[in-house]
Amino acid sequence: MKAILVGLLLVCCVAVQAEEDRYLLLGDFLPELTREIAPDQLVYADGGVSLVRVPLSQVAHFSKLVHAHHKACGGFMDVTHEIRRGRSAQRLVWETAAPIDSGFEFDVRGDAIVADMVAMVNKDAYWSVLKTLEAMGSRSATNEKGVAAQKWIQAQVVELTSGMSHARLWTVPTEHFFANKQDSLVLTIEGTQPNLPSVVLGAHMDTTSQSFFSDKQPGADDDGSGSALLLETLRVLKQSSAQFERTVHFVWYAAEEWGLVGSQFVVDAFVEKGMTVDAVLQFDMVAYNSSADNDNIYLLTDYTSSELTETLRRIIETYTDAKVGTTACGYACSDHASWHKKGFAAAVPFEASFANMNGRLHTQNDKMDVLDADHAIRFVKTAVALVGEVGRVLPQPKH
Ligand code: BES
Ligand code: ZN
Repeated sequence: MKAILVGLLLVCCVAVQAEEDRYLLLGDFLPELTREIAPDQLVYADGGVSLVRVPLSQVAHFSKLVHAHHKACGGFMDVTHEIRRGRSAQRLVWETAAPIDSGFEFDVRGDAIVADMVAMVNKDAYWSVLKTLEAMGSRSATNEKGVAAQKWIQAQVVELTSGMSHARLWTVPTEHFFANKQDSLVLTIEGTQPNLPSVVLGAHMDTTSQSFFSDKQPGADDDGSGSALLLETLRVLKQSSAQFERTVHFVWYAAEEWGLVGSQFVVDAFVEKGMTVDAVLQFDMVAYNSSADNDNIYLLTDYTSSELTETLRRIIETYTDAKVGTTACGYACSDHASWHKKGFAAAVPFEASFANMNGRLHTQNDKMDVLDADHAIRFVKTAVALVGEVGRVLPQPKH
C-alpha cells in the first residue's frame, strides 16, 4: 500500500513538473546542455545567447550538468517572469548579448576616515556570523530553512540598525515555482544627498546542492561568506557612526541558485521605483584561499563594468595589502549579471582564479573547515573601503 502511495505521489510530482515550463537564457553553454535541448525548445538565439523553454524538471537537471562541469562552463538565467509579463524574447536575448554601457567615473581619494573604518573590521565577529549560517544546514529558497535563514538575517539587520533613523529594511518578493518562500532583503541607508545615484552591496542568502531539496547544503563559502560579509560591513558602519553623501543599499538576494531569480526582481524593483544606482558590488564566495593562486583577490572581467572594476582595484590597493588579479566566469555566474543586463555598473571581487575556486560548492561539504578567515577579511575590508570612498563618507562631527 505504502509503495503504491509513494508511486502515485511520484507520478503526480512528475505530472506537475511537466506542466510548468521555465524560460532560461543561456550564454556560451556546455555542449552537454545543447544536446539536451530539442529544436522546438529553442525560442530565440542571437550573439551567442539563447532563450530556451524547458520543463521545470529539466532546470534541476541543467543545474546538475553545470555543476559537474563548472570549471569548464556555465549557468543560466531564469527569465520566466519577463516572458509572462509580455517582454519579447528577441529583446531579452539582445539586451543580454549587448548590455547598455553603464558609464562609471570615480577618483579614489585615500581618506583617513575610510582607513579608520577599515581598521574596525573584526574577524571574530565575521567568523561567528558565518558559523551560525553554516549551522542552519540549508538556506535553500525552496524550503522552510531558507525562510528561517531570511528571518535570522532580517533580525540581525534590525538589531544592527537600531537607532539609525536613516535606515529602512524592506523585502522584495521572488515569484517562482516554489511559491514565494524566500524574499530578498534590502537595507537602504539613506545618504545626506539622496538624489545622488546610490551604491549597492550584495550577496545571495540561498544555498543549493546536487540533491536539491536536501537539508545538507550548508553553503559556508557559497554564499554564507558573502552574506556574513554584508553583516560585518554593516556592523562597522554602525560602530563608526559614519554618514555618507550617497545612499547605500545592502542586499541579501533570494534564489540566486535557481537562475539569478531573486536579484532580477530586486533590479526590477529599483527600476520601477526610479532608484538610481552608480555602483553594484557582488560578494559571492570570498573565503577560500587557494594555494595554487599567486594573487589574493580576483576581479571578474565578464558581466561587469571595466571602469568600476578599475576603481575597485585602486580601492583594494589603497586600503589593503591584498594582491589583485583578474579572472572570468565565462557566463552569468551570480547576481551582478542581473544588474549588468539592465545597464548598471557592476564589479565582483572573487576568492580565487576561476580554475582554483572552492570545488566544494553545491555539496554537503561546503563547510568552514577549508575556509580562511584572514582571506575573507580582505574582502570585508574591501567592502568597507568601497562604501567609504564611493559612498563619499562625510567628515566626522567634532565632539
Ligand atoms: N557562487 C556560485 C558560482 C560563482 C562562481 C559565483 C564565480 C561568482 C563567481 C554561484 O552561486 C552559482 O552557483 N552560480 C551558478 C549559476 C547560476 C546562474 C545558477 C553556476 O555557477 O553554475
Ligand atoms: Zn552557487
